[in-house]
Amino acid sequence: MTEEQAGPRNVDPPEKFASNANVSDPFVYEAADKDYEGFWADRARELHWFKEWDTTLNWSPPEAEWFVGGRTNVAYNCLDHQVEQGRGDKTALVWEGDEPSDSKTYTYSELLAEVQKFANVLKSLGAERGKPVSIYMPMIPELPVAMLACARIGAPHSIVFGAFSASALRDRINDCEATILVTADAAPRGGKATPLKANADEALEDTPSIENVVVVRRTGDDAPLTEGRDHYYDELMKDAEAECPAEEMDSEDLLFILYSSGSTGKPKGIVHTTGGYLTHVNATMKWTFDIKDDDVYWCTADIGWITGHSYLVYGPLSVGATTVQFEGTPAYPASDRWWDVIERNKVTILYTAPTAIRSFMKGGKEDLEKHDLTSLRLLGTVGEPINPRAWEWYHDNVGGGRCPIVDTWWQTETGGHMITPLPGITSTKPGSATRPFPGIDAGLFDEEGNEIEGEGSGNLVIKKPWPGMLRTLYKDPERYRETYWEKYGDVYFVGDGARRDEDGYYWITGRIDDVMNVSGHRISTAEVESALVGHEAVAESAVIGRNDEDKGQAIVAYVILEGDREGSDDLIQELNQQVRKVIGAHARPEEIIFAPDLPKTRSGKIMRRILRGVAEGQQDLGDTSTLADPSVVDSLQASRTNGS
Ligand code: PRX
Repeated sequence: MTEEQAGPRNVDPPEKFASNANVSDPFVYEAADKDYEGFWADRARELHWFKEWDTTLNWSPPEAEWFVGGRTNVAYNCLDHQVEQGRGDKTALVWEGDEPSDSKTYTYSELLAEVQKFANVLKSLGAERGKPVSIYMPMIPELPVAMLACARIGAPHSIVFGAFSASALRDRINDCEATILVTADAAPRGGKATPLKANADEALEDTPSIENVVVVRRTGDDAPLTEGRDHYYDELMKDAEAECPAEEMDSEDLLFILYSSGSTGKPKGIVHTTGGYLTHVNATMKWTFDIKDDDVYWCTADIGWITGHSYLVYGPLSVGATTVQFEGTPAYPASDRWWDVIERNKVTILYTAPTAIRSFMKGGKEDLEKHDLTSLRLLGTVGEPINPRAWEWYHDNVGGGRCPIVDTWWQTETGGHMITPLPGITSTKPGSATRPFPGIDAGLFDEEGNEIEGEGSGNLVIKKPWPGMLRTLYKDPERYRETYWEKYGDVYFVGDGARRDEDGYYWITGRIDDVMNVSGHRISTAEVESALVGHEAVAESAVIGRNDEDKGQAIVAYVILEGDREGSDDLIQELNQQVRKVIGAHARPEEIIFAPDLPKTRSGKIMRRILRGVAEGQQDLGDTSTLADPSVVDSLQASRTNGS
């Protein structure tokens, strides 16, 4: 174990924080352990239910149902219920646009009014319970409005991150057969605008299920409408009825589908349902984030990813918090933009990714020192392991040494936090996500399926169902079973490796499958490979994630060209463009290596370990005797050093 892994010290919750914390009694762990169903039922009781459930949990692995027979509505909990509790005039959403001069706020009453109207708009376009609506939008308030409007009428949403390409959008629309797409003319970020509607139009050439498209005018850029199919948001809203009652949804009704990369080229449609998901995000807002009525909470994630779903929209609104939504980038118009947002809005809780912290670390402290960050009281991280040095930097410079850090481990599949400190209780170790959340039963298994007790390293699993867990993969229950439940029987196979130390703390070591984690974004090697072989010059390709100081992992693509094609800088550009077109700019390889051959075993399996070693410049590549042709390694090393 290196010193970096071990973490230099324990950091206890400051006394002042602990004495005011929502949860301060360490006994909560033991109590939840004894009766995890009862623990979650107590959390669920803090929500609004039209009808209470009859059974807390039906567990017939791998199928879970939580709060069976209960009826509730997520939008009702996030809006109406907050107004009923006296938060009508409280700020629900603070929106910070790409330009610092562009900002807006919505109170709970205002947001409720907007959501009801848009729910009526959706209904008038044929939306109904159970019928998916696709959303492809910039980080503007109309995005949470659209989500909540869907939740209000029981139409599951499927949000596609705005940086995804037209073809990625098309595949995701076709998979869930959405009849409505909500989008915008363009998405401004960092002073530049992505032509969202033009991308959507390209996708819509081949999406037979779509009948209506709603277009928000964000920039006023030219975005031609297709007669009969496309409508401007503002025009529809002008005539919309003000009131739309919330549907009484069954606890297990579908709330949303969110596509995520798996180990094949086809993304997985991760399915989340209503009552359990809301219970999980609501409880973790209170316990992990220690949320209070006067907090101003900022989650920097894009709503297109799960973090934005759970901890920018549903979690914070379900507890009646003030949540900040930021459209821009950290560097625009200047590199102190984030600190400016915090100072002006007096943000108290900041939730972000280690990649962002590392990039600020590189830029130095000067940008922070220009701003008053003393409003901050709690910091969070998510998406990838945080190295102790970045943790310490975050703690000392952003948190001024006074804010606890919650390093939250979880996944799109888990819906909410799974392994995380509780900030008033946990003595943290920089670099460790610490212990499972109360009611969550994590464990480690070895390759043979034996459980590892005590200290050790292995494959992370979750041994009991939890309310926010994915219920299935959309229209693919077989893949759901195979991906998560086949390897170890009735325990959930996470896909991450982890080490557990002598105190029972978990140290996540990263993915153990063919999924890369680039700046906290999950990208499958197979998806990038399949994009590359779609180019006529490429015969075969193998993609790996190389360790990268800033991004966690960087994408490296080995490419074997067709026949007598030769590698060139122009071809590298074209291949980058190809990946951008098929998946999106965030999946472009950092490095493309033209290789004569790939290292394969005699049975034809690519040995990625070797490719990773070559990309990281390792001299000793370990045992290469199982390769069908060990000389491949020398030629790969030569290709890389030639810079071809
Ligand atoms: O590998 C783990 C890593 O991100 C994966 C989940 O990715 P995604 O579904 O896109 O969700 C990201 C946001 C929840 C995990 O399997 N990961 C997430 N959080 C952490 C992490 N790795 C280490 N520490 C974390 N706190």
